[in-house]
Amino acid sequence: MTLTWSIETYERLSSTQDELKDRLNQGDEVTEGLVIQAIEQNAGRGRQGRLWYSPPGNLYMSLLLKPGCSLARSGSLSLVMALSIVRALERLAGEQIGITLKWPNDVFLNGKKCAGVLLETETDASGNLSHVIAGIGINVITAPADLGTALYDDRKFKSLTLSGIRDKILQEIARDYPVWLKKGFAPFKEEWLKRTCKTGTEITVGHFDRAIRGTFSSIDEKGNLIITDPEGRERKIASGEIIQNS
Ligand code: BTN
Repeated sequence: MTLTWSIETYERLSSTQDELKDRLNQGDEVTEGLVIQAIEQNAGRGRQGRLWYSPPGNLYMSLLLKPGCSLARSGSLSLVMALSIVRALERLAGEQIGITLKWPNDVFLNGKKCAGVLLETETDASGNLSHVIAGIGINVITAPADLGTALYDDRKFKSLTLSGIRDKILQEIARDYPVWLKKGFAPFKEEWLKRTCKTGTEITVGHFDRAIRGTFSSIDEKGNLIITDPEGRERKIASGEIIQNS
C-alpha cells in the first residue's frame, strides 16, 4: 500500500486530535492520510490525560490511519511511529545524534523529552482497528520549563523549518507504516532496542495507578515491555510507561 498525505493547517485549534475526531463523527468519508496540523492548540492533550504544552512554533499534528487489523496490534504501532520520528530527526541532523527512545513512545534529545505520540483508536463491529488518530507533538523552538527540551536547544537543528521537520516525519511514517502493517514490530525491534536503555537498567514503570520496579530486559514482537522484577521473575507489560530510569 502507498500512504499519501493530505495536509490541512489551522492557526489555532483546541486539539488536532479533537478536530480529526469531529470530522469522523460528522459521518463524512475521511480519507486515510489526512493530516490536521495546528500552529497552536489551546487544549493539547498528552498521554495519561496530561496536557500538552502547545504554543506557536512547535509541531502539532494528527494523522488519520485505517489499518483494519486487530486492536491488539495498535500498541506496537505507537512504538513504530516514535522510531519514525527518530529516523526523521537523525536524517535531518545528518548523523546519529543523542536521540533516544523511552517505552512506549517518548522521544528524547540529549536526555530530555522532545516529542511524544498519542494514539487514539476506534474499532469496527468485528473488533478491528477501523481508525487510528495518531497525534504527534514535537517541541521545536520551545519546551515546558524543566520538563523537556526543544530541537532548537541543539544547534544541529537550529536551521530547520517547521514544515521541513513535518514533511520529513511524514515521509518516514509513509515508509514505515506499510512495513508495520505487513510484518508488525519485528522489522523495527532491533533498531528500537539500539536507541533505548541497556538490558539490566533499573526502571520504574507506571501501570495504571501502580508503580512497578524491575530491570529492563527487552521489548517483544508485540511491543510489550519485558522487565525482570526484584524476585527475578520476567513480566510483560502491555500498557503504561517507563517513568524512571536509574
Ligand atoms: C505524550 O504525552 O507524550 C503525547 C503527546 C501528543 C501531543 C500531540 S500534539 C498533536 C496532537 N494533538 C493533541 O492534542 N495531542 C497530540
